[in-house]
Order: sequence, then C-alpha cells, then structure tokens
Amino acid sequence: MINLNNIINKKNKEKIIMLTAYEYLTAYYLEKSGVDLILVGDSSGMVFSGYKDTLPVTINDIIYHTKAVMRGVKDIPVIVDMPFMSYQASCADAKKNAGKILKETGAAAVKMEGGIEIVEQIKALIDIGIPVMGHTGMQPQSVRKYGGYPVFGKKPEEKEKLIENCKALEKAGVFAIVLEKVKADVAKEITDMLNIPTIGIGAGPYCDGQVLVTHDLLGAFLDFKPKFVKQYEKIGERSIKAIKNFILDVKKGKYPSKKYYF
Ligand code: KIV
Repeated sequence: MINLNNIINKKNKEKIIMLTAYEYLTAYYLEKSGVDLILVGDSSGMVFSGYKDTLPVTINDIIYHTKAVMRGVKDIPVIVDMPFMSYQASCADAKKNAGKILKETGAAAVKMEGGIEIVEQIKALIDIGIPVMGHTGMQPQSVRKYGGYPVFGKKPEEKEKLIENCKALEKAGVFAIVLEKVKADVAKEITDMLNIPTIGIGAGPYCDGQVLVTHDLLGAFLDFKPKFVKQYEKIGERSIKAIKNFILDVKKGKYPSKKYYF
C-alpha cells in the first residue's frame, strides 16, 4: 500500500529522489533503479510533445501519460502534475480535475504550482482525501509572467515571499514542496524551517531531496542543458550514432544478415 508518510519520514534521515516519467518503460526503469517517487510532470509538454512550454498540456494528456506510467510501476508513489488552468480558477475545478486524475489513473497524489494564492484549492483537495505536493520558487506555468525561467531568492523581498509561501503551503497540508531554481542558501533556510521535505531542482544541495527531468540527466537533448543539470549519459548523441549505423548497414546490405532472418 502506498503511504506518503514514508516520504515525509525521510526528512533529516535520507535524501529523497524523484524523477519524471511520461510512459511505461521509463517508469519501469525508474522503479528498478530505486527512485522514491515518480513524477508525471507537465514537462511532458516540452519533452514528449515538443511544445515550447508547459502551458498547452491538458488534463487528458496528463491522464494518458499517467496511465502508461502506472503500468510500469508496482510499489512507488506516482505524483501527477495538475496542468495549467486545471486548478487556478476555483476549488471546484481543482476538485473535479484532481479527482478525475486519481480516479482514472490510480496515482498517489497531485502536484500544484503556486503559494498563498492556491492555498484554498490545496485545502479543498486534502479535505476530500487527495494528497498534494507543492511547487514554488520558479513556477514554469508562470513563464509568460516572468518572460523566461529566472532564479528566485536573490532579492530580500523574493526571499521573504518564498518563505511566506512555503509556510502557507505547509499549513495547508502539502506533504512535500518542490523548490525550483531557488538560491541554495534560501532553499537551505526554507528546508531547515519546514517539518515537511523540500525537493529541489536547481535549488542546491541542502534540500531534503532532488528532482530532475529524467531525459535531462540522460542527456537526451543535444542543445539544451540547464546549469543545474548533470548529464549522466549522452543518449541523444548515442541514439543518433546507433540509428546512423543501422542506416549504413541497411544501405550496404549488411543488415539483416543471416542471424536476423528466418
Ligand atoms: O514538470 C516537471 O517535470 C516538474 C519538475 C521539473 C519538478 O515540475
């Protein structure tokens, strides 16, 4: 039985690892590798669908991805991003859409971007039994407002606002908070202040856990590498090399050789 208290209990004991998956096979690899949580992120909009940002992702898109991910995992919690405008407008929207996600996919919880301005929606979900993960700092769904993907916590007023938002999220009942692109010293202060875990992405080493887009750590993109990403593989380059070798083999009549036909 999935129990998110196991995640909360890791705070101050061991680092929490969360990675993204949008389909069956990646989810299967992630569980085999030993991650603690899988996130069906709305980064799927960029990584899977090729959009410029996460805004076009719909509830039906995220449900499609989550169903595929759920088929690849047995025992770890799957957290699902609430897409842009599936919760911001009202508690009724939040309940309807988060309910649909959990009912149709069997996922463990939803993640929502925002702070004080979405506390009512968060409480409404938790009241009806839907666990929520918070996400603050740089919120990719607000890219139009920022005009890019800035680092947060550089100015004192930004730091104060972040702290206020995190306190409000914890009080509302979220079981963990993603801190995205937050200055490391500010992320540390927030992590020390909270009783629930922080999971950082581009937020330094002091968070209680780390999350990355799996395709980023595997080096899937040839020309996109944010400063906070360490590439543990070069699957983009290696895939192109492999496909080129296949093309050459076919053209030269080397494939399929006897070993590969009946
Ligand atoms: O959509 C996503 O993948 C995310 C993570 C990067 C935290 O929200």
